[in-house]
Amino acid sequence: MKTPTALPRGNQVRVVNCNRLKGQFRVPGDKSISHRSAMMSAIGNGESRLLNYSSAADCQNTIQCLVSLGARFAVGADAITVDGVGLDGLRESAQPLDAGNSGSTMRMLSGILAGQPFATTIDGDESLRRRPMKRIIEPLVKMGAGICARDDSFAPLSISGGGLKGIEYTPPVASAQVKSAVLLAGLFAVGKTTVIEKTPTRNHTEIMLLECGIPLDVVTSEQMTRISFSGPGTIRPLGDYTVAGDISSAAFFLVAGLVVPDSRLRLEHIGVNPSRRALIEVLRSMGGQIEIEDERLAHGEEVADLTTDSSELAGDIKLRGPIIANLIDEIPILAVAATQLHGTFEVREARELRVKESDRIRSIVDNLRAMGVEIEEFEDGFRLEGPQRLKGASLDSFGDHRIAMAFTVAGLIASGETIVQGAAAAAVSLPEFFELLRVSGASIEEI
Ligand code: S3P
Repeated sequence: MKTPTALPRGNQVRVVNCNRLKGQFRVPGDKSISHRSAMMSAIGNGESRLLNYSSAADCQNTIQCLVSLGARFAVGADAITVDGVGLDGLRESAQPLDAGNSGSTMRMLSGILAGQPFATTIDGDESLRRRPMKRIIEPLVKMGAGICARDDSFAPLSISGGGLKGIEYTPPVASAQVKSAVLLAGLFAVGKTTVIEKTPTRNHTEIMLLECGIPLDVVTSEQMTRISFSGPGTIRPLGDYTVAGDISSAAFFLVAGLVVPDSRLRLEHIGVNPSRRALIEVLRSMGGQIEIEDERLAHGEEVADLTTDSSELAGDIKLRGPIIANLIDEIPILAVAATQLHGTFEVREARELRVKESDRIRSIVDNLRAMGVEIEEFEDGFRLEGPQRLKGASLDSFGDHRIAMAFTVAGLIASGETIVQGAAAAAVSLPEFFELLRVSGASIEEI
């Protein structure tokens, strides 16, 4: 993997229309899996080596927070070696933890902090300070943690942990971060911890807990998934663990490869966990040619190689219900693909988009309108009729990595030139993004 490109000067990129993308590469490790692998190996009983750990700024924040808590990480050229301190080996941090822009770091780590016999303050950047934390505060307090938050709901959070007991909890929102916070706290709790999910969300925590020898009981029915285990647990180290490529990063290239003419992109070793792959199914249902090859299982996670060819997109696509949680992070780039669709594209019941790194419904609608697209905004989604021509424009990332990347891809199919301001936000999940597009043939200039 190339060294991440730091965006110099004005933190903007200029993108022009592209007539061809060709390439074959890997994207860095999955952000969700990377966070979990760092947390789990930090409290594991023994050594782990993490390979293909995400280069995302978010995942570096997770490591920094864990190091402040006394976890032992050695970052090498090819792997991160973690000398696990065991379940009771973390220590009080001398300074508040900084989760940066990362909701996953703050919410999931809070589960671990809730189990510690000391107090910790965890804070984040301006965007993270606006995001809802009550969803983790409520169950963790029920388990016995003391948590103070700004206005009872927002970061910074001060967590006094220890003395937890297992609970049965049904999260009111479909959220893998909430589920994971409760399960991680359950490792430190006495008795049974149960999470009941009405809408399935990504199950990386469950898969990794099983990998680490925690005997999770997972029962799935039409109405719900019930995940339970009895704590306290002992974490077997992950050993040599290669993180699957990030499908949410691959998403930008999958769409670019479909909508830019005369293109073929091959992405290798991408995680295609069923709880994350709805994007592929949706793009295929629009007529997108995406080939999935050599599906295999690595550390309990499904991975495959993906190839996209430029495609004419058609169909009426209405996304609502359980599929939303499966592709929540891919909706900004799907909206860009939708402008090229011969048909209607509608997203509903996706209110969660409003409390991501930016209000993503607003960010999508504002940027697409700036590009001349007619789009209807709803409280919980949006609708547009495609295909529509995109006009080059000056756009904003709204400080949101996925908006920065989605609208750089939009610039590839727009007339004239497109400026994306605040483009450096891409480094929150994929510092290599602009470089990978450039080596595939896109003309992108940092200005
Ligand atoms: C994540 C879960 C999702 C997702 C986020 C990563 C995770 O958030 O949007 O990017 O790693 O568990 P929610 O759990 O808030 O839906």
